[in-house]
This record gives sequence, structure tokens and C-alpha cells, in this order.
Amino acid sequence: MTKDLTQRLRDAPALVTGAASGIGLALATRLAEAGARVVLADRDGEGAERRAEALRRRGLSAVARRLDVCDREDFARAVREIEEREGSLEYLFNNAGIGVGGEARDFGPVEWDSVVDVNLGGVIHGVLAAYPGMVARGRGHLVNVASVAGLVPFPGEISYTASKWAVVGLTQTLRIEAAALGVNVTLVCPGKVETPIYETSRILGFDRDAVLALWPKGVTPERCAEEVLDAVLANRAIVVVTGTAKLLWWLERLSPGLVEAVGKLYLRRLRAHRLPGAGRRA
Ligand code: NAI
Repeated sequence: MTKDLTQRLRDAPALVTGAASGIGLALATRLAEAGARVVLADRDGEGAERRAEALRRRGLSAVARRLDVCDREDFARAVREIEEREGSLEYLFNNAGIGVGGEARDFGPVEWDSVVDVNLGGVIHGVLAAYPGMVARGRGHLVNVASVAGLVPFPGEISYTASKWAVVGLTQTLRIEAAALGVNVTLVCPGKVETPIYETSRILGFDRDAVLALWPKGVTPERCAEEVLDAVLANRAIVVVTGTAKLLWWLERLSPGLVEAVGKLYLRRLRAHRLPGAGRRA
């Protein structure tokens, strides 16, 4: 991040959801280091408080706010609190997300709803809470974290893929609507980032360790946050993080049929690790 760009973040009120861990924590940390006034929001309120406290001990501006992004009213309250305290909210990072691995035949309504409610519902609630104020002020920046699984089909992660494709569509459309109103919108699509999500996510129907071993090693959350903030400050429409993710995205635009073939090959390898008796029974 250049000095010039860092200056733009100085004293800027910023809210990061899912900030107690992984990419959200790295984003919040980097923002605070650049001088932003950061609110670390997470449904894990104690985790967010511990992280904010650690940042404050370094002399940085950080407060924690317990927030479940599925709670529309509380999300609106959290944004209002910042607007009242700071005068405005300049950056909202809709980052909170969860994953549940598995095929459609493994999934019941709970596995669909839980993922869509957080990954898509949480972003919608963020837009409802923050966008009107940004439009009224004629400035601000919304950053929505989707995934490379929002740009290409991803077998074995059916509800996650559906939720992230929706976030991609929402974000790209909002960017067009928001531009003439003075509000910037950036879409973030990471490939594999080494965060706790891989230990905490449920994986239905497959042997977890064997599935994770199929994936290439990812980048650090700090590296991801650095790329995201550079893209945000340059007001880029989309930032795709990791070489593998960029390759898949490029292939999808070049030849969707090729990506379908790659998906089938990957699924064949995945199904070699299917647990005996897996599958949802009607
Ligand atoms: P993580 O599991 O390390 O951190 C996610 C944080 O979100 C946790 O602190 C968790 O408590 C919080 N959270 C979960 N549900 C919430 C809710 N309803 N309300 C508020 N907070 C909630 O995960 P990671 O890897 O940092 O993921 C962050 C985002 O990046 C997610 O949207 C994820 O889908 C996306 N992503 C991650 C990739 C990866 O390889 N780690 C790849 C592509 C996208």
C-alpha cells in the first residue's frame, strides 16, 4: 500500500463483519494500521473484543461490536451507532461468511438456509444498513467478499456456490447503480486463503482431511487483505486473489465447457473420498 493511499484511510470510520478471524481480522488489522477507525463486528463478540483490545494495545483505533449479520435490525443499529459516533461510515466490508461442504443430495433445508442466510442475507443486510447513508452523503465504499466459487461452478459446495454467485450478481449490479450516486462498490473473490474456516466448516458426505488434501495451499489472510485494500483504494470493480482463482476465472470466461470438464474431473476425485452410507434420506 503506498503512502498516498494510506493517507486516504486516516481517521476513516470502517466496519468489518466477521472480523474476529481470518480475512476479516486481517482486513481490520491492516485498516487500523493505516489509521482507519475500525469496528470489528462478529457474532463471536468475545473474539472480536479480544482482537480489538490487541489492536488498541498497539495504539490503533479499534472497537468491537457483537453482531450476527443475519439480524437485519441489529446490523442497522450497528451502522447507526457508528454514524452517530463518527459522523459517517466510509467503508463497510461485508466479509462474514460460512461454508458447508457437500453435494445437493447430502443437503437438507438447514444446510441450504444456514449458508444462504449468512453469506447472502448478511450482505443484503449490510447494504440495507449502510447504503442509504452513503447515498445521502454522496460518498462511501461497500466491499463484498464473495469467492472464486462465485465466479465458477464448484461441485461439492453447492449452497456455498449458490450464495456466492448471488453475492457476485448483487455486487456487480450495485456497483453500476451506485457509481453516479458517489458510492464505490468492490467485489472480492478469493481462492484459497489459509484461515480457520477449513477447520470450522461442516463437510457432509466426505472425508474432511482427504477433501482438504485435494486443494492447493492457499495464501495468508494478510496477503489477501493487502491485495483487497489496494483494489479498494484504487476503486477496482473486482479483485480475484490467488493464482489458481485467477486461472479458473479466466478459463470460465474463455471456455465454460472446459471449466465444466474440470469440475467433473475434480468431482470424480472428490467422490473417491465419499463416506460409506453418505447421502440424505428422504
Ligand atoms: P473464518 O471462519 O476464519 O472467519 C469468519 C468469521 O465470520 C468468524 O469470525 C465468524 O465468527 C464470523 N461469522 C460467521 N458467521 C457470522 C454471522 N452470521 N455474523 C457475524 N459474523 C459471522 O473465515 P474466512 O476464511 O476468513 O472467511 C471470510 C470470508 O471470506 C467469508 O465470506 C468466506 O466465504 C470468504 N472466502 C474465504 C476463502 C478462504 O479460502 N478462506 C475463500 C473464498 C472466500
